[in-house]
Order: sequence, then C-alpha cells, then structure tokens
Amino acid sequence: MRIACLGGGPAGLYSAISIKLRNAAHDVTVFERNRPDDTFGWGVVFSNETFDNITANDPASAQAIREHFAYWDDIAVNYRGERIVSTGHGFCGIARKTLLLLLQERARELGANLRFQNEIASAEALAKEYELVIAADGLNSKTRSEFAQIFKPAIDLRKNKFVWLGTQQKFDDAFTFIFEETEHGWVWAHAYQFDSDTATFIVECSEATWRKFGFAAMNQEKSCRTCERIFAKYLGGHRLMSNATHLRGSAWLNFPRVLCETWSHENIVLMGDAAATAHFSVGSGTKLAMESAISMADYLVSERTLEAAFAKYEDARRTEVLRLQSAARNSLEWFEDVERYLHLDPVQFNYSLLTRSQRISHENLRLRDRNWLEGAEAWFQRLAGAEDNKVRRPMFAPFQLRDMRLKNRIVVSPMAQYKAVDGCPTDWHLVHYGERAKGGAGLVCIEMTCVSPEGRITPGCTGMYAPEHERAWKRIVDFVHAETDAKICCQLGHSGAKGSTQLGWEEMDAPLKSGNWPVMAPSPIAWSERNQRARAMDRADMDRVRDQFVASAEMAARAGFDMLEIHCAHGYLLSSFITPLTNLRADEYGGSLENRMRYPLEIFHAVREVWPAEKPISVRISANDWVGAEGIEPRDAVEISRLLQEAGVDICDVSAGQTSIQARPVYGRMFQTPFSDRIRNETGIATMAVGNIYDPDHVNSILMAGRADLVCLARPHLANPYWTLHAAAKLGDRGEAWPPPYYAGRDQLYRLSGGGEPALSAV
Ligand SMILES: Cc1cc2nc3c(=O)[nH]c(=O)nc-3n(C[C@H](O)[C@H](O)[C@H](O)COP(=O)(O)OP(=O)(O)OC[C@H]3O[C@@H](n4cnc5c(N)ncnc54)[C@H](O)[C@@H]3O)c2cc1C
Ligand SMILES: Cc1cc2nc3c(=O)[nH]c(=O)nc-3n(C[C@H](O)[C@H](O)[C@H](O)COP(=O)(O)O)c2cc1C
Repeated sequence: MRIACLGGGPAGLYSAISIKLRNAAHDVTVFERNRPDDTFGWGVVFSNETFDNITANDPASAQAIREHFAYWDDIAVNYRGERIVSTGHGFCGIARKTLLLLLQERARELGANLRFQNEIASAEALAKEYELVIAADGLNSKTRSEFAQIFKPAIDLRKNKFVWLGTQQKFDDAFTFIFEETEHGWVWAHAYQFDSDTATFIVECSEATWRKFGFAAMNQEKSCRTCERIFAKYLGGHRLMSNATHLRGSAWLNFPRVLCETWSHENIVLMGDAAATAHFSVGSGTKLAMESAISMADYLVSERTLEAAFAKYEDARRTEVLRLQSAARNSLEWFEDVERYLHLDPVQFNYSLLTRSQRISHENLRLRDRNWLEGAEAWFQRLAGAEDNKVRRPMFAPFQLRDMRLKNRIVVSPMAQYKAVDGCPTDWHLVHYGERAKGGAGLVCIEMTCVSPEGRITPGCTGMYAPEHERAWKRIVDFVHAETDAKICCQLGHSGAKGSTQLGWEEMDAPLKSGNWPVMAPSPIAWSERNQRARAMDRADMDRVRDQFVASAEMAARAGFDMLEIHCAHGYLLSSFITPLTNLRADEYGGSLENRMRYPLEIFHAVREVWPAEKPISVRISANDWVGAEGIEPRDAVEISRLLQEAGVDICDVSAGQTSIQARPVYGRMFQTPFSDRIRNETGIATMAVGNIYDPDHVNSILMAGRADLVCLARPHLANPYWTLHAAAKLGDRGEAWPPPYYAGRDQLYRLSGGGEPALSAV
C-alpha cells in the first residue's frame, strides 16, 4: 500500500516506523515542511508506563530513545519561600529534537522515505496520490480545517497564557514547579531537565497578569529577559531561551483543547495533536501521538478494509483520549484557578498540585512517597488539633465548629425516610439514626424535618411542629448521645412548591393521588406541569413561616441536637427564593441575588437568635441549577456563600441541583466537590462536600487538598450504616471506637481486612 504521513512529528514518524515494522512491503513516505533538525520546542516527558508500550512496539527505537533520557523521580514545588519535594513519580525526559532525529533514523532504517522541506498544501490532493494519508500535521492541522465539515473539530482556547522556553540552568534533581508572586500577579514555571545541559522551562500566568506585564507587545528576546527577572533566584544567572522562530511576536500562546467528532474521511485519518490535544501540564501529547500510531498500525494489519481499520482505531483510541483529556482538563483548570489556592499552606498547596488531575489518589501518593504523605497527614492532624501524636488519614481528624467537636470528618448526609406518622418520627427513625450513629460517622444529619404540616414534602416526612415531635426526636438524640460519640444535626426545611407530593419510592415530586394540601412559594408557579400552582407568599406568610422556623429551632434545641442545618437547597421553599428560576418577585425579595437572599437570611438571623450560641448552624445550598446562565451557577454560589458567611453561618453544605425540571446535571465521581472547593477557597467559609463520594480515597483527597472541611455521604450510608468503621478497618486504622458489644465483630473484621497496614504509627 502507498501510504503518506503528513507531518514529521512524533505521530507521523512513529506511524511510519510502526507500519513498516508490521509490513515492510508498504511504501511509506513522510512529508515534513521543516528541515530534519529544525524543531521548535525543547523537551518532552514520558511516564514509565508510556515507555513500556513503546518498548513493546519497537524495542530498537525504544532503546535508542532510552539512551538519551534524563530521569527523575522527584517533584519539587517552590512556593512561598519553601521547596517541598516528594518522590516516586517516575518520569523521564528527552529533547524533542533528539526524539525526532532518532525516530527519523529508525524510520529510514526500516525503509520509509522522508521528505523534508516539503509543505503539503492540501491533504485532498495527497489522498488522490496515496491509498492512505495519515494526517499528523499537529496542533494547527490544515487537514482538520480543510475537512472541518466532516471532522467537526471543537477547539476550546483556554484562558491562561504560556510560553515554552529552555534554559541551561540545571533542574536535574526534580520536575520543578516554581510559583512567584510579582507586582502584576502570580507567574509560575514548569521546569524539567531533558538532556545533560538543557531544561524545558514553560512559563505560565493568567491573561490579566500577562497583560499587565505587557508581554503582548514584546518580542521574544524581551519576553525572555522579563521572565528571567521574574525567576532570577532560580536561574543561577542562566538565560531563558526561545526557539519558536516559527511564531511571530512574543511566542506566548493560549492552549487550544482540540477534539474532533470523527477522525477519518475516505482514505484520510487524523492522528496526534491534529485529532486531539492534552494539556502540557499532564505531559501526554507525545504519548497520545505515539500510542495512536501503534494502534493504527495494528488495525491496518488486522482489518481487511481501511474503513474497518479506521473504525477500530477510532473506537480504541477515543476512550483513551477522552480519559486523558478529562485528566488534562482537571489539571489545566487547576492552573487556571491556581490563584484560588495561593493562600494555602505549602503542604496543602503541594498536595493540591499533585492531585490536580484526579489521576493520583491519596493511597497512590502513599505508594509513591510514604514519608512525604505521612508528613502531610501529620500536618493535617496537627492543624485539626488532634490530641494524639499519630499519623492518621485526614478523614479521621477531628473538627471543631463553635463548641461542637466532631471526632472525624464523615457526615451522614440528610436522607428523607418517609416513615413519619403525622410528622412524628417513629421507632424506624430511632433504629435508623441510632445505627448510623453507631456506625462511626462523626456527624449524623437527620432528614429534612419540616416546620409545619403544610411545609412537609410528603405525608411521610418528619416534622418539628408539635410537642410529640420534640419528644420523639429527644428520644433519638438522647440515644445517640448516651450510646455513641457521634453528634447529631437537625435539618429544618419547608417544602414550598415541591410540597404535597408522593413518597420517595412512589413517584417522586408528583402530586398526591388524593388529599393534596395547598402549597406556597415566592412566586405563583408550579414545580412541573403536573404539580399545583403555588400561592405567592405575602408578608404575613413570610412572617408566619419565619416564626415556624424559630419555633422548630427552639424545639430542636430542647431536644438536644448539637447542630442545626437550614435547608436552602433542592428547590424547596428557601431554595426557591434564591434561584431566579422560581423567584419572579418584584419586591425587595426578588431581582438581584442580594434581594433573593434576603428572606433565607431573615430566617437564619431569627433562628440564630434562639439557637444556643455555643452550637453551630449550617446552611445547605444548591450551588448549581444546572441550567446555565439562566439559573444559579457556581460563581453565584460563591456570592451566596459570602452572604451566608457575613451573616454568621458556620458552615456551608454544598449540594447542587433539584431546583428545576430543566436541569441537566453532569454526573461523575465527586461531581459537586468542585463547587465546595471554589466556595471554601474563594470565601474562606468552612464547607461540606457531597455527591457521589463513596470511597475513603475520595474523602481523604478532598480533605487533604482543602476542597472541603467535612464530607457527607448519603447513599453509601443507606447501604452500610457502618461505612466509617469499615473504611477504618480496610485502611488499617485502629483508632475509631466501636460499640463495646461489637468488639468481637470488630476483631474479626480487622483480621479479615488482612492487617495490610500496621496499627497507627507514632510520628
Ligand atoms: C508547551 C508545550 C509543552 C509540551 N510538553 C510535552 C511533554 O512534556 N510531553 C509530551 O508528551 N508532549 C508535550 N507537548 C505536546 C507535544 O509536543 C505534542 O502533543 C506532540 O508533539 C504531538 O505530536 P504530533 O506529531 O501530533 O504533532 P507535532 O509534533 O506538532 O508534529 C506535526 C508536524 O507536522 C508538520 N506539518 C504541519 N503542517 C504541515 C504541512 N502542511 N506540510 C508538512 N508538514 C507539516 C509540522 O512542521 C510538525 O513537524 C507539549 C506541547 C506544548 C505546546
Ligand atoms: C433517599 C434520599 C433522601 C434524601 N433526602 C434528603 C433530605 O432530606 N435533605 C437533603 O438535604 N438531602 C437529601 N438527600 C440528598 C442527599 O443528602 C445527598 O445530597 C445526595 O444523595 C448525594 O449524595 P450521595 O451521592 O452520597 O448519595 C436525599 C438523598 C437520598 C438518596
């Protein structure tokens, strides 16, 4: 077959090699517009894993590449005058130019034709001459533009500015990050050695900082001199160099995130950066290019037609590309938002940086560098005021809010049981909450408990509006306090327009089949077409509901609850004041966010007056309506939290959604945690994260990275009331107290957990 590789970068050259290796009879030509040795850029990095794949494909070129590798195991982070080093990361680097020269040599040796200084004007013309065209023409692929209608590329130009420089200063002991605060804002560098005397030095900053420096108007020379001044204390007098002669101006770029809907057209197939890009901060562009080349070469052998080979190639590679792009997106967003984290202690900042792509978990970091992680865990425990001098996971650190001290960071998230009788909790609730309190969580939050009969969601919802409710709750609270060391929080709410609906396991949010009661809300709208239209609340209604919240809070205080949570999320009454989707009021309670927050804050202030001063109050919010700019977006949630913080709310329980039937949530592991992260780190209020958090590793990484103070688990606690004790056993932590009657079960579980980890070690 006559095959053209359009582009002599890693994708084009490695395709030529991989194809020739499998079938030397193929006639393969690589077209490259540049000269053989005239490459822009400096070094590239590979992880050990990538290198295994390359070695399996072609041991000869792998060996040649290996001989030129610079290796390092450490990552060093320079930040606020400290240099924190962690190890076990296993990377290697090579000059891009050396890599390309070695690949050229190997391709030639295998009989490929290499045609340099040969710019291809149109892939279509090439496709007429050759049976197969591998379009590996890089980030700004002309082929991709030529067939844009078919490939349908989505190109997302990211916010930060970066420039790819080199230096002869040595960074040979670690992959080095440097964060420098300048008069114009923060600027940072990603630096790594790639041969004996040169290192890559990528400089990055926000667009605002870049503008203030005036980089846009500088030539490359001046831009390098300016960067040298910024990083002078790390450069030891060495210069920063640019070799981006192909770029005009100062050579600063915005990273384009590229993904195409399809990768092939007739006999043309996209590969490498032309098909999809992964941000340089996860160092995987070259890996993607070379692994895709292997895959395509394999399918050319195994499949009988080009069409089938393309289909298989796309199928196999797209998942891998999307996986990497998702990690790369997390990583690039971390750098885009880095100024949010620049108040963090260097230990936490370092952890946040290392786990930014979410590919490296807490326990994976322990495998890489146990000492470093244990140092970070000890730091976390010290900061949390842990009494014993032990290294423990962050989830087992205490937490203090006002006078309430939690033994650990796990919260049983509020979950309606729909088992109340006329608002009164029953023995079901005693057993249900009693079990969860015995199960080891530091805090058990009871379900949304309603301040009036008409404020209930369903006829099965619990209330706090009658003396028998107070008595029944007191019995539960007393049990929790007498028999466990968990704390218990009362969530108070009013259903608003989502009231008078069926039990959770019937048809959720649908009106009752009979016996509906009238509902009210900020504005006269219905939750859905099927639900009744709510009556718009007037001032008298607002006063009455406020007084009901106050009366319920007084009852909760008498019942002995340790904490109160006001439910301002999920589309219920107070939430429906906050979101513009359901608050259409023209008075001072509608319109601006400040106005929409007025009533929930009135309730908070009134409740705070009667709630014991030594006990905390939380507010649960929906940080995202998931409908785009029409509704609450995470940036609005930051403003909401700021108002809560100013009002004296102790902690914000950051949930999301359930405020509109139009919502289109993007689910995933820990999917709401970014909202908690943003709120906590932009306002400084304590937060609870919730939503699809189910593994101890999730919890530990959220806490250690400072993305929340407490972590709520809902469904995992339905499946296993003893989630915390089981997690501790699995992790080899023996520091969580079990109820004495269960000691035999505890000891067996410890034994069965294998004791892979020793009991707690002293620092
Ligand atoms: C700042 C920065 C740092 C990076 N760091 C790393 C890293 O550490 N590790 C890593 O793996 N990746 C890294 N990358 C990404 C990596 O450089 C690319 O992902 C990789 O080079 C992609 O290979 P490719 O063959 O698809 O494209 P390229 O390497 O861009 O090759 C495309 C080739 O096609 C040629 N070409 C284009 N159009 C034509 C035409 N019309 N006719 C003839 N020839 C043409 C170009 O001259 C070029 O040589 C980084 C990228 C950037 C921007
Ligand atoms: C059965 C059930 C009932 C729930 N009831 C409430 C509730 O009363 N109040 C509340 O704020 N959230 C309630 N939620 C939401 C949970 O507290 C939690 O935010 C959500 O389930 C996501 O967490 P998870 O992924 O750990 O389940 C409920 C969730 C479930 C599954």
